[in-house]
Amino acid sequence: MRTTLSSLVFIMAGVLLFYGCEGPEGPPGPQGPPGPPGEPDSIATYLGDNSENCGHCHDAVIATWMGTPHAASHDSLLSNPSYAEACNQCHSTGWNTALQNGGYDDEHDPAVANVQCEACHGPMGPNPALHEPSPDALSGLSCGQCHTEQWEEYQTSGHGTAMERAGGMEAFVDEWKSSSCNYCHIAEGFLRRYDPASYPVSPTFANLEGNEISCGACHDSHLESSSIPSQLRVISADTLVYPANYIINDYGTGQLCGKCHKDRRDLTTQNNHINNGNAHFGPHDSPQLNLVEGVGTYIMDTTMTWIPTTPNPHAGLLQNMCVNCHVKAVPEGSGHYTATGHSFAPQTANCTCHAVDPDFDYNNSKDEVEVLMNALADSLVAHNPGLTLPLESGMVGDTTITTVNARKAAWAYFLVENDKSGGLHYPEYAKLILNNSITFYASVTAARNGKNYASTR
Ligand code: HEC
Ligand code: HEC
Ligand code: HEC
Ligand code: HEC
Ligand code: HEC
Ligand code: HEC
Ligand code: HEC
Ligand code: HEC
Repeated sequence: MRTTLSSLVFIMAGVLLFYGCEGPEGPPGPQGPPGPPGEPDSIATYLGDNSENCGHCHDAVIATWMGTPHAASHDSLLSNPSYAEACNQCHSTGWNTALQNGGYDDEHDPAVANVQCEACHGPMGPNPALHEPSPDALSGLSCGQCHTEQWEEYQTSGHGTAMERAGGMEAFVDEWKSSSCNYCHIAEGFLRRYDPASYPVSPTFANLEGNEISCGACHDSHLESSSIPSQLRVISADTLVYPANYIINDYGTGQLCGKCHKDRRDLTTQNNHINNGNAHFGPHDSPQLNLVEGVGTYIMDTTMTWIPTTPNPHAGLLQNMCVNCHVKAVPEGSGHYTATGHSFAPQTANCTCHAVDPDFDYNNSKDEVEVLMNALADSLVAHNPGLTLPLESGMVGDTTITTVNARKAAWAYFLVENDKSGGLHYPEYAKLILNNSITFYASVTAARNGKNYASTR
């Protein structure tokens, strides 16, 4: 049951942190005498009653929001046998027992029941004409204050730790704000590119507006559609840049993941890396969509077979591909969850068709891929003096260390390496391209038989 003391403390702390902190932080002082009552106008208050206060101007949003679970989240509680006062805090708007802010806790005013606009966009009163929606609805905490189950797991995920790993907001925005990076690395950039109606003005990042891939990046809280689970955003076709304009449109909700988790090098860039070297040699860190689909490695010899004989065994079987293996909620039975899949790490329990090893290996695929990876790496090292193990992309991309042929062969190595599934995303494809690289490199090195490698570069 979720209304434990710790979850109450957590949620109240979250709400206070979120709406209560205006000034700079200082050390906690001693408890003083109670001050005079504040000016009634000095705190922001909740107006609720959406259609009255946001209407005329945001009619289209109101119309779709009305059909979302949020709009009925309190009404549906009342008939619940376990209904208690403590349930209201997350099923209504403006709950904050420390402030008289017109929230549901103050008077149980039906105008602020349910999860309304202001639950995410912040209190818009007492003077709505000022129109200052704040805080930022795209910050994870804006949803995490109520969705504690998803929030706890999310904070451990690659998505939820990006800001912290970068070293805070400023460093994060600085690192990713470039227009060629922000549409996969920053929530605002992603919305602007793929769902511009939800983010009408191009972000400049001048005010450090920039969130990691947060709840609002993947979920569109204005979306009413019942055909898309959990109001997920941009479940639309994904296009790879290599092979050029290759379209993928049968991964269900996994299409969302594919927007970002795909390689970003086109054929020209591939050739450039191979012919002229590059400090970030190889596919981008995120070629999962390519691996799952079984396309996109460098083709150094058109006479070889590059298409696996059988399609990815999971395609067609798993309706939502990435999501089926990586994001699966375990309902608790009372409308809440014991696990939500928001660490985004695959779970062995999600493999319901056949058992897998604790490291996800199945039919020894992972071991076989590893053997081929090692064999390819060893042969590259043997023929390129200065190259060392483990293979590192900057070193392979250094033209003073490797040959053009070595870099051609190494592309498949980094495609599999950067995918990070140990080839499990499509073992047959991983093995095919590694084998091709091994065969190709053996043939070119045999042709140079006995020569001084440095002189053949
Ligand atoms: C008198 C008209 C009007 C009313 C009433 C109004 N808005 Fe707006 N709002 C606008 C306009 C104009 C924009 C800018 C265009 C846009 O983004 O759609 C805007 C933008 C916004 C934005 C996005 C921009 C930002 O700064 O984040 C949010 C969120 C928003 N309004 C929330 C609300 C909410 C919640 C209410 C009701 C409590 C409300 N508005 C009432 C006119 C209005
Ligand atoms: C004030 C608390 C609160 C806030 C803030 C909030 N939610 Fe919710 N959310 C709820 C409640 C309560 C429900 C359950 C509604 C129902 O079905 O009765 C819900 C339902 C949902 C659902 C539907 C779940 C399903 O099983 O289909 C999604 C998706 C969702 N919220 C996402 C979000 C996102 C994303 C944000 C932030 C942008 C957010 N919520 C902010 C309380 C909140
Ligand atoms: C569950 C959280 C949530 C609720 C409820 C919600 N929004 Fe939003 N809204 C968001 C997020 C997230 C964004 C995208 C980020 C942004 O633009 O700030 C957004 C964007 C907006 C925008 C700017 C983009 C656009 O569509 O024009 C407006 C305006 C807006 N919301 C108004 C509203 C109004 C009015 C309501 C109530 C009918 C509402 N929102 C309810 C989370 C929410
Ligand atoms: C097509 C989407 C996309 C674009 C565009 C993109 N990236 Fe990425 N990038 C990703 C994804 C997804 C990951 C995480 C992949 C993983 O961990 O498996 C990632 C990971 C990284 C990493 C690994 C470090 C980390 O955060 O864990 C670096 C470094 C990186 N990207 C740099 C960049 C830079 C610099 C740019 C712009 C020049 C850029 N990326 C543009 C999708 C993209
Ligand atoms: C990288 C994308 C992504 C991010 C970030 C994300 N979600 Fe989800 N979320 C999903 C997917 C995918 C599902 C599963 C949809 C389905 O199949 O029903 C989901 C499901 C949900 C559900 C339905 C119940 C459940 O857990 O399955 C809720 C509620 C939800 N997410 C809220 C949140 C909140 C709150 C956050 C931020 C703390 C968040 N999500 C961040 C992708 C995301
Ligand atoms: C808007 C772009 C975007 C979307 C959509 C997205 N991701 Fe990510 N993902 C990233 C980035 C960028 C990273 C690297 C962490 C960071 O810097 O945010 C990442 C990291 C990850 C990681 C951790 C990888 C590691 O090396 O530890 C996993 C797992 C992951 N994503 C799975 C998913 C799944 C599954 C989906 C679909 C439900 C998804 N992602 C949707 C951009 C995205
Ligand atoms: C059949 C199940 C399955 C499907 C489908 C699937 N994955 Fe995976 N994924 C895995 C497994 C298993 C791993 C390896 C985990 C390990 O070795 O710890 C993995 C690894 C990853 C990683 C690296 C995680 C890390 O922590 O380093 C990312 C990112 C990822 N997958 C994203 C995706 C995306 C995006 C898609 C869809 C295009 C996808 N996956 C489809 C099962 C799957
Ligand atoms: C910490 C915030 C929080 C508290 C406290 C809370 N809920 Fe919820 N509740 C949520 C969220 C968020 C959801 C949406 C679940 C999801 O999809 O993750 C939800 C969903 C539900 C649902 C499913 C809605 C539907 O229509 O399917 C029911 C039923 C429910 N809650 C009942 C209760 C009851 C009864 C209590 C009090 C005993 C309670 N909740 C207390 C946050 C909360």
